[in-house]
Amino acid sequence: MKIIKLWDIPTRLFHWLLVVAIVALFITGILGGNAIVWHGRLGILVVGLVTFRVVWGFVGSTYARFRQFVPGPASIAAYLKGSWHGPGHNPLGAFSVLALLALVTFQAISGLFTNDEISFSGPLYRLVDPELSLTLTSYHRVLAYVLLAFVGLHVASIVFYAIVKKDFLLIPMITGMKQVEAGESYRGGGIAPFLLALAIAAGAIYAASGLWAPEPPAPSAAEPVPAFDF
Ligand code: HEM
Ligand code: HEM
Repeated sequence: MKIIKLWDIPTRLFHWLLVVAIVALFITGILGGNAIVWHGRLGILVVGLVTFRVVWGFVGSTYARFRQFVPGPASIAAYLKGSWHGPGHNPLGAFSVLALLALVTFQAISGLFTNDEISFSGPLYRLVDPELSLTLTSYHRVLAYVLLAFVGLHVASIVFYAIVKKDFLLIPMITGMKQVEAGESYRGGGIAPFLLALAIAAGAIYAASGLWAPEPPAPSAAEPVPAFDF
């Protein structure tokens, strides 16, 4: 047995920031009211986090790369036969990672186009048809709970691996290190790819914020004001 470097700092930071953001998004989303303002800000932060992770999946270190863990038919077959061995995400884990990333991405993007029909609308809702905005809002409400179910499954499998398989996946996600029989420490990543991923994530945050979109026209003075006489 030897100890290798498995998860680099950006991957771990991404994971734990995402966990904090998603928990806070559920709390603020369900609270509604004034908390929705923070809900929107946190959702935009998640757009940045996911963008960072996607870029890092191409330019990051060995085990963070999609090429390393997105399973092909051969590794799925090996996994099902029990002969798959490797230090990174196993093929089943990789599917759950991709499903979580896809659901989080859908939630964050649909959130940008939401409109609660009372006081809050997502920063990009004016860019789409009002019908579509309402449809996306209802998907946003429903798929949040599908995401919650996947998170439950995710945490349950980490507990299953720890108790049944005696494989403590949580420790490497905190310390970055893992004890393995075979495998090498990660390579690559580094400061230049990190800055590149950070810059692209910042661009995605700016795009999601809607700050670039033209202001809506101010209501014209000639417009009739509805009057209520009691
Ligand atoms: C990954 C990111 C996100 C998650 C996990 C999330 C989750 C949630 C949840 C759990 C609710 C409450 C659903 C319910 O009523 O039971 C909600 C509602 C809402 N979210 Fe998000 N959200 C995310 C991103 C965003 C973003 C980026 C925005 C806008 C900038 C946004 C805007 C809203 C609005 C306006 C509602 C209230 C909808 C309504 O009830 O009419 N969300 N979200
Ligand atoms: C909001 C909830 C959560 C979400 C959205 C989430 C999402 C993810 C994602 C996307 C990954 C892949 C990491 C990467 O390659 O970048 C991952 C891995 C991981 N997560 Fe979570 N996670 C959540 C909660 C948790 C919690 C509460 C724990 C602790 C019990 C946890 C433990 C882990 C571990 C140990 C891994 C590595 C699994 C492996 O070795 O294959 N996660 N998670």
